[in-house]
Amino acid sequence: MIVYFNGKFLELDDVKISPFDRGFLYADGIYEVIRTYYGKLFRYADHLERFRNSLKAIKINFVETDILENNIYKLFEVNKYSNPNLSIYIQVTRGVSFPRKHSFPPDEVRATIFICVSPIENDALMIDKGIKVILEEDIRWSRCNIKSISLLPAVLANQHAVEEGAEEAILIRDEYLMEGSHTNFWGIKNGEAWTAPLSNFILPGVTRTVILEICNSIGIKVSEQAIHKSDIKNFDEFFISGTTTEIKSVTQINGRIIGNGKTGEITGKIYNAYLKYVEGKSWF
Ligand SMILES: Cc1ncc(COP(=O)(O)O)c(C=O)c1O
Repeated sequence: MIVYFNGKFLELDDVKISPFDRGFLYADGIYEVIRTYYGKLFRYADHLERFRNSLKAIKINFVETDILENNIYKLFEVNKYSNPNLSIYIQVTRGVSFPRKHSFPPDEVRATIFICVSPIENDALMIDKGIKVILEEDIRWSRCNIKSISLLPAVLANQHAVEEGAEEAILIRDEYLMEGSHTNFWGIKNGEAWTAPLSNFILPGVTRTVILEICNSIGIKVSEQAIHKSDIKNFDEFFISGTTTEIKSVTQINGRIIGNGKTGEITGKIYNAYLKYVEGKSWF
């Protein structure tokens, strides 16, 4: 696999990262995950905006954002994947500095950038089966709107889900269901789609934005409100969303089956509209 690392296109095995890279020492960096549909970057402008916002939020001075898109397309070219559905992982850290010191290194220290591209096996054409999730206390920090590489609470929550035979952990803060460990969370009540409002407690998902647009266009009302734990029983359907996850219906929460245990009608409508959209067709 050819990857992009600090201005060069290299074989993955030729990449050398210093143990004094601040990403390694402090998780002092941010990342972004983008995908393609049919060989084209999906909602690139939204991802770029979030990437820039994350950099700004943690004050990393990284100036290469204008050539990012070219570098990504170059990676498609050199890797020659036959699968047109690719996932693009981009990580930027504050760079290498010695000795180890919490405060920022001098301005001349360059940020480290790494980009890799890999095929997505479960693409949009797969039939949505429905997944199990568990509820987990949200022990993350209060800047969840930054796509930080400091992901330990999300890793532990998702690992707990896997150990329980589930796919995702939905994180609860002050009794409210905020989002998944790596997805946004949605519920449907009386035909209305609920999802937590944008704040410093959730990541502003690009797929979330697309779904909001879809709901607007196909006449599904949206309530940007987090669901209270005690209100779960009043919801008819649930689903999660994310770039590589796309839309997956949630048919079990903490072992309790939702509705008839199958993908609900509204979730199905949104999912179908999403598939049409990514295929470049209108969702009307
Ligand atoms: C915590 C969290 N929420 C939501 C999402 C979904 O965001 P997007 O739709 O942009 O992939 C992600 C994606 O990685 C995430 O990590």
